[in-house]
Amino acid sequence: MKSTNITWHEQQVSKKERQNLHGHRSAILWFTGLSASGKSTLCVEIEKRLYALGMSTYVLDGDNIRHGLNKNLGFKPEDRSENIRRIGEVSKLFVEAGIIVLTAFISPYRNDRDIVRKLVDAREFIEVYVKCSVEECERRDPKGLYKKARLGEIPDFTGVNAPYEEPGNPEIIIDSEILTVEESADLVIKYLKDHQYLELR
Ligand code: ADX
Repeated sequence: MKSTNITWHEQQVSKKERQNLHGHRSAILWFTGLSASGKSTLCVEIEKRLYALGMSTYVLDGDNIRHGLNKNLGFKPEDRSENIRRIGEVSKLFVEAGIIVLTAFISPYRNDRDIVRKLVDAREFIEVYVKCSVEECERRDPKGLYKKARLGEIPDFTGVNAPYEEPGNPEIIIDSEILTVEESADLVIKYLKDHQYLELR
């Protein structure tokens, strides 16, 4: 904490009132998994469906956020932790604003994800593990990054020469080697419906 002499200002409109305006609960759908596991594709598909259902949503995507807000961060462990810390704080703001935010970051460290989980109320953090083996991600390799990493051209590449720590107890597991994007999206939408996220009671 570098800032001193700062004071917290309360707002006049509460999270509850903002949720009432939107007509649904707000939460973080936190997608985690290897590069090319399908996180971004899934987020885009699910957001499209939530939008069609009249929900207020937003997608935060690793590759996109690293073009702007987090462009000063690389892929060393401390940079990844700072990446996730900032996205956690931004996601919390979306929750305060009454919005369902979908995040697509590898977020390879369990501790970093757990820190985000603790930033919001228990029901407001839904961890979605997009499970896919390194072998399959490497077969997909849509950006050619696994190939580069194997050639030694990318240091600290997750799954090749940097670790990925699987979630211990995620709310949802999507096996993207078996399920289609449509089936995976169905699962997440069903979870949100079954747990009353898409309505107010
Ligand atoms: S995280 O580990 O800090 O959560 P993030 O999701 O923001 O990563 O960014 C991952 C994306 O950056 C990958 O999908 C890939 O396109 C790109 N990338 C570039 N270098 C690396 C690397 N060394 N490890 C993983 N992904 C990388």
